[in-house]
Amino acid sequence: MKIAVLKDSAAHEKRVAATPETVKKLIALGATVAVESGAGTGAKISDAAFADAGATVADRAATLAGAGLALAIQGPDAAGLPSGLVLAASLNPYQSREKLAAYASGGITALAMEFMPRITRAQSMDILSSQANLAGYKCVIDAAEAYGRAFPMMMTAAGTISAARVFVMGVGVAGLQAIATAKRLGAVVSATDVRLATKEQILSLGGKPIFIEDEETKAAETAGGYAKEMSDAYKAKQAALVSETIAKQDIVITTALIPGRPAPRLVTAAQVATMKPGSVIVDLAVEQGGNVEGAVAGQTIVTDAGVTIIGHINYPSRLATDASALFARNLLTFVTTFWDKEAKSFSLPEDDEIVKAIRVTHGGAIVHPGLQG
Ligand code: NAI
Repeated sequence: MKIAVLKDSAAHEKRVAATPETVKKLIALGATVAVESGAGTGAKISDAAFADAGATVADRAATLAGAGLALAIQGPDAAGLPSGLVLAASLNPYQSREKLAAYASGGITALAMEFMPRITRAQSMDILSSQANLAGYKCVIDAAEAYGRAFPMMMTAAGTISAARVFVMGVGVAGLQAIATAKRLGAVVSATDVRLATKEQILSLGGKPIFIEDEETKAAETAGGYAKEMSDAYKAKQAALVSETIAKQDIVITTALIPGRPAPRLVTAAQVATMKPGSVIVDLAVEQGGNVEGAVAGQTIVTDAGVTIIGHINYPSRLATDASALFARNLLTFVTTFWDKEAKSFSLPEDDEIVKAIRVTHGGAIVHPGLQG
């Protein structure tokens, strides 16, 4: 079977869905691999490196000709994709209905890798985790850069510099890495989440948990491990807690997401205004509507009171080489799992729970239950 690796052309996208290492392993499975010319440029992987790994490098039409499976970071335009192709990528399904409809009518079987179930067997195929981890690291580095002061406490002959105070809101994969990174830089770190299970995790990283504990937070986690939308009563308690906490912080990192819904608003403009001049906020949820009032996707804003609000788009792409390596390995594990060694081809069993979770279009229709209606 021929596997095509497509060049991603979306704005802010520098990642690539395969690396020379994963190309070699795909070839070892018995696949032939074609890589679209320039696919690795943003991640600092040359066409020559892909060719040395055994791939043919060609334009998009030649890359796709005869391919049974295409790998990409984001979903490409349906135009030019051959009918019958299986496409595995991060498809942003809730925000990309038109594109999904075009895949369906084009006869594409589209697999949304972000719908990978959070089960042990699928852990090494989980692109949300691999990419969020890097985002959590990089946003703290960006905050440290924008913060005009040092992170660690320093006791010097010329006097003492106090440690930066970092508050992380939303302690999933990105939030945990943000806590760990801020601790490594010497900050005093506190963190909050709606899921009570994160309390232990914050403590284990040396952070201070700041929590509302009521009946609702005991059930704030879904069976899939994600957060639920909280009630208005909870939101009011949370707003009071944030007001109390935020004015004392130098850096605030927000990462809160609820699958399939806009990001919860956690910080108001009035709360931002209570922060000291020179403070920095990074809103990792800015593309899903933002946790912070005033954050703008793709922009860094300095408020009248001197608070910097960073809203970078596509955080993982800011570490394109590492993000590509991990994304590519997630896809390699996925392809290997569903590879038929004898037939030397990729096939998706109808009754597999991973297939049911991630397959969004098939047989000319949008088939995912979460995307009906
Ligand atoms: P996410 O990206 O969906 O959300 C980020 C964080 O924001 C979550 O911790 C969520 O609880 C929190 N949040 C949502 N609404 C909030 C609000 N109103 N206020 C404060 N915080 C709020 O989450 P992510 O990073 O995908 O992780 C979710 C869970 O899944 C974690 O427990 C993680 O450990 C688990 N997980 C399990 C895996 C597996 O078993 N294979 C793989 C990866 C993650």
